[in-house]
Parts: sequence; C-alpha cells; structure tokens
Amino acid sequence: MTTMSASDPASFAGALLTIDLDAVVANWTLLRDRVGGPARCAAVVKADAYGLGASRVAPALFAAGCRTFVVAQVEEAIALRAVLPADAEVLSLGGLPPGSAAEFAAHGVTPVLNHLGDIEAWTAFCRERGEARPAVVHIDTGMNRLGLGPDELDCLIEQPERLTGMSVRLWMTHLACAEADTPMNAQQLGRFRMALARLPAAPASLANSSSVFLGPAYHFDLVRPGCALYGVNPTPAAANPMRPTVRLDARVLQVRSVDTAMTVGYGATHRVAGKGKVATIAVGYADGYPRTLSGRGHVFVGGIPAPVVGRISMDLITVDVTALPEGAVAPGALVELIGPNRPVDTVAEEAGTIGYEILTSLGRRYHRVHVGGTA
Ligand SMILES: Cc1ncc(COP(=O)(O)O)c(C=O)c1O
Repeated sequence: MTTMSASDPASFAGALLTIDLDAVVANWTLLRDRVGGPARCAAVVKADAYGLGASRVAPALFAAGCRTFVVAQVEEAIALRAVLPADAEVLSLGGLPPGSAAEFAAHGVTPVLNHLGDIEAWTAFCRERGEARPAVVHIDTGMNRLGLGPDELDCLIEQPERLTGMSVRLWMTHLACAEADTPMNAQQLGRFRMALARLPAAPASLANSSSVFLGPAYHFDLVRPGCALYGVNPTPAAANPMRPTVRLDARVLQVRSVDTAMTVGYGATHRVAGKGKVATIAVGYADGYPRTLSGRGHVFVGGIPAPVVGRISMDLITVDVTALPEGAVAPGALVELIGPNRPVDTVAEEAGTIGYEILTSLGRRYHRVHVGGTA
C-alpha cells in the first residue's frame, strides 16, 4: 500500500506557480537605469503586486533600492506598511475615502488626492493636527477617470491657498495610451506641463511602465512602473525588454484514449477527428485560466505544443496529446501553461485580454514558490 507524503505539498499540488523575485528586481533595475537615480523609480504593487505577492515583491525591491511603493487602496497600503521599513514611502491612488484621513496618518500612508473635496478634507485634517502632512495631487490630463478635471484645476490655480496646511509631495498625472504611438501622449504631456507652470512648485510624476520608454520628457521626478516589473511587454510594437517573472506548470490528472465520433468536455464542443489521446490538466477558470481560452492556444509538454481542446471548466482543461511521443505525458507529469514557451502576453492575446489581467487573476489554489530576492 502506498501512502502520500505530507512533506512536500509541491509534489502533489495541482499546479505550481514559480515567481522569480530576481527577475522582478532586474526589471526594476532596468527601468531605474533608464530614468536615472534609484529614488526616481517607484514600484506599483497594487492588486498584490499584480498577483505575484506584494509581501514578497515589495521587500525584494526595497532591498534593491526602491523607496516609493504605489497601491490602489488604503487597506493594501496598511498591509504593505507591515512588510516595509519605515523609510519606505507608500502612496495610495484611490483618494481619501470619507473619514479615512486619520487612518492614512496612523499608518504613514500618503494619499493621492483626486478632487477638491479630497484636498479640502486632507488640509482640514492637517490643520487640525498642526502637521503639514504630504499628499500627492492627481491632475487629470485626459483620462476622465480620476484626478482634478479642467475646472477643478483652474480653481486650484486661482486659489492656491486651498493647499494651505498640507505639503504637496507630488503633482501626478497618468497617460491614457502610453503603450501606443498616438498624438494623445504629447497632448497630455503638454497639458501637464502647462498645469505645473501655473501651480506651486513641487516634484512631478507622469510615467507608468510604457511611458518610461517614451523618452526623458515623460520621466519628470518619479516614474511609476507596474506591469513591466512583472514581465508584461511595455513596448508592444517591439520586442519585450523585460524578463519573464512567472512560470505556471500544471499537473496531468488523466490521459484518455479517444476515437472518432467522441466529444470532449462540457457542451461537447470538441469532436474527435480520429484515434488519439486527450490529457486532463488540473487548472481551470476558478484558477484564473480564462474560459475564453476554450479550444484555443496550447500548453507545452517538454517543449512540445499540445492544443487545448474543448471547454475550459472550473478546475480542468483538456489538451490533445496525440502528437506527443509515446510515454511523454502520463498522470502526475507537469505541463507548461505560462513560461518560456508561453509568455504571459501570448496567453493574454489568445484569451482576448491583456497580460495585466492574466497576472492579477493568478489562482489562489496554486502552490506558490518565490525564488531569488534577498529579502
Ligand atoms: C496612476 C497609475 N500609475 C501607474 C500605474 C502603473 O501602470 P503600468 O502597470 O501600466 O506600468 C497605474 C496602473 O494602473 C496607475 O493607475
């Protein structure tokens, strides 16, 4: 009788997600070197560092010299504080939810103020405390999403006393189409420059990952890359300058012999064309493997592609392994879903989405291993 060893969960996990912290650090270093000194390159680690684990990624980047970390929500910022030294700066993009100012202050989190109401609430809080606490002010130069719109910006320019009591850490804006060659980038840059010329002097920040590659005019005092740190191509029209950071291998649960007239999976969407073999793999849409990949794309077995056939189900996918050499795939074997043969951007393109979504959806059931990093 055989018993399962509890000593190494990786040996029986349905899927293994390997996260390379050295690659994340190398990507940050590449971006830092493009813009200049370390203090000028932040790291966007919202959504759990785009799915890679902020509690591991952020300390590794701090050890490499990064001092500014950006998240979307105050809860994320508070969690990040617990894993970073006190001299790390944590910025939270989502404004100042009503009644939250004391929470920001208590945890040393710098809010990004998105409208005049945010500015009013933060300055009132600072005056009450008698402390000119820092905040970032977001100017909307064309996204029409967050930030001071044109009317609010004019109002702030005419009445700079609205800022009295606080310290402007940064003026910030965000490009709508940084990854594309479009006149909108120069338009937004022009609007930002005009605003800076009319506002009280303070450092400025515009660039996300792709904007770093638009040239020094877009760099200002601090760049805020996210996706490029995690290996997504920030220059989609050219080769990817970033290192891949994740590898996803999933286990074969069963291999079936099939023949003409049989179908595979829910909805019987795949009809078998002749004698062959189908392998069932332990990953599904509940793990963030998109259902739109039903009948699309490949997994790789020992570097050989095997097409996905039939629907992706909650916990399983099915692949046609007929063309693989005899014995190449057996229950327990691992197949590559994301890795050197299938970069994140390829998986995303086949799924009709973007690398950001593939990464931030990476499953909670995966057996996660972080490798590298000094922290
Ligand atoms: C305001 C802001 N800055 C920077 C980033 C990072 O962008 P990217 O992941 O494209 O580098 C984001 C991401 O959504 C953002 O919202």
